[in-house]
Order: sequence, then structure tokens, then C-alpha cells
Amino acid sequence: MTAMLEARGGALRAVAQAQPNIALIKYWGKRDIALNLPVVGSLSITLDALWTRTEVSFEPELTVDRLLLNGREETKQLRRATACLDLLRARAGVDWRAQIVSTNNFPTGAGLASSASGFAALALAGDAALGLGLTRAELSVLARRCSGSAARSIFGGYVEWALGQRADGEDSVARPILDAEAWPLSVVVAITSTAEKEIGSTEGMNRTAETSPFQRAWIDTQEADLAEARAAIIARDFERLAAISEHSCLKMHALALAARPGLLYWNGATVTAMHCVRQLRAQGVPVFFTIDAGPQLKAVCLPSAAAAVAAALRAVPGVLNVVETGLGGDACVLDVPELVAE
Ligand code: DP6
Repeated sequence: MTAMLEARGGALRAVAQAQPNIALIKYWGKRDIALNLPVVGSLSITLDALWTRTEVSFEPELTVDRLLLNGREETKQLRRATACLDLLRARAGVDWRAQIVSTNNFPTGAGLASSASGFAALALAGDAALGLGLTRAELSVLARRCSGSAARSIFGGYVEWALGQRADGEDSVARPILDAEAWPLSVVVAITSTAEKEIGSTEGMNRTAETSPFQRAWIDTQEADLAEARAAIIARDFERLAAISEHSCLKMHALALAARPGLLYWNGATVTAMHCVRQLRAQGVPVFFTIDAGPQLKAVCLPSAAAAVAAALRAVPGVLNVVETGLGGDACVLDVPELVAE
């Protein structure tokens, strides 16, 4: 899509869309809180049917940034959004404040990676509005500064976010490793609660780093997990990817469960859904689960199995809703601002 840069009524504005990503090899823990640098690399798939659409409008008469999220004035995420726009404003030499209007077509803050798609869309829309023309890698670094997993939502398909070596974090950036079309997978999200989670990822991973006795083992074993997942993806070996992805998910939760106080992101339906996925796999259905810092279960499967997986998860007591999606493409700038209001 072509970038939309508009000076309408003196405002600089643009609209962008990004999709959430689901980590198969998880990010959990920061080595630098200020720069938002991870203690481990991670690997994810970007979704198709779920999206965040964000319009950013820098306006000379505004005195503060404002954020409307799903039609409501939002103050909790505003600090992070302002920090993201400050980085862009500094690069552009612009000090206008902005109106941000953002819409998710899925529940916000409930473990569906809304911060990933949200900050990827914000970085892209802000860049387009200011006409900066940042590269995808620069956008990934910028999005990472706001929310780690957002670094990966700049890209579609299979994406790896590198740990990086540099103290300034400029090499801790995501890159695509395989297009969505090269190995289409389906994801069935079983929604077991629409409430906002009590302990967000940032607080959860910081508490884990400070108190979990398993932190060192987590860091020491991540490189091998990444190599295994990469090899499985390149070979399109579903069973191999299933085994390493469930391992990474359960290891992250074991790590967080061992924090003090322990972080328990699952509810009863999450656990029943985990058993359901394992039973399906035992019956020969190509499916595995992954779960982030919330109670939703994401079942990853071959597209031929998606209908059966969705039906089985829908029948799990406590599953409120099931969302089916394929893998999606890169975050993009949209031409039509009205799309935000859809
Ligand atoms: C469990 O990216 O939300 O989803 O960098 O503090 O904003 P911050 O954390 P965030 O954490 C995501 C954690 C996870 C695993 C993952 O996506 O890799």
C-alpha cells in the first residue's frame, strides 16, 4: 500500500494496521528495562483475522497526546504511546502532540497480544504521518522500545526477534524467517475470559526475573529451543514444531509459576482446553497449544484440521468463544482513514 501523508487542516496524519503475533518460542524477561531489551530471543507467527487499526494525527493546536482505544479515552496505555511518539518526534524534529484513535477487532489486554499489534500499528502510523520513511528494521526497533512483542508484529508469517548483543539494543530486532504462504498454518483461539488480566506481561516478567529460581535455566536453554523451532519451520515439520512450541510455552509458565508470588495465568477452562488439544493430537490430529500471559489458549494446527479443532474447543466447558485465523502478512499503512471507524 502507498503511504498516506496528509496535511489536512494543518495536521499530519496516517492510518496503519498490524496483526497480533503468537510466540511459539516465548519472550519472557528483560535485560534492560529502559531500552526494553529481552533476556532471550523469541520466534512467532503473525495472525491474519485479528487486527489493530490506528490513526495518528499530529496537530499543532494539541497540548497533550490523546488516545482513544475502541472508542474510549484511555489513560493506562497513554504513557507508552507518548513514549513511542516521542521517539518519532525526536527523529522528525516535530513537537506537535497527537490524537491517536485505535481499534482492535478482538478483546484488549486479555492475552491476545493487543500490545503487539497496537504498538506496531502506532509505530507505523506515526512514521507515515511524519513522513520519516523508516525501514522495517528501524520500525521493529521502535516498536520493541514500546512493547517487546510489537517488534515481531511489523512482519507477517514466521518471525524471529533476535536477542542482540549491543548495549544500545539496535541489533535486537525482528526479521521474517518464512512467509505465511510458504507454510500456511491455522490458529484457533479459545477465549475463556474477556476480562483484562490482573498482572500484565511487563510486571509479570519483571517479577519472574527477580524471584523465580528457574530464570537462569530459562535463559540457558533458549538458544537450543530457537534453533529447533527454526529447523522445524524450514523443514515444514509440524510434529517437531508442535513438540518444541509446547515445551517453550510450558517452560515459560513453569518459570512464572515459580515466581513469588506465583503467576498463574490459566483458569480451569484453559487447562481443560490443554487436555483437549493433547487428546486430539493423540488421536492423530495435527495440533498443538500455546498460551501467553492470559487465560486464552491458542491451538496451532494444519488448515485441514482447523474445523475439527474449533469444534472440539467450542465444546470445552468454559470456552466462551472460538476465533479461527490463518497466518497474516506485514503491518501496513492504509489509504482510507475511515477504515478505523469500521
Ligand atoms: C507471554 O511484549 O507484552 O506474550 O515488552 O513488557 O510490553 P513488554 O511485554 P510483552 O510480552 C509478551 C510476553 C508473551 C510472550 C511473547 O509474546 O513472546
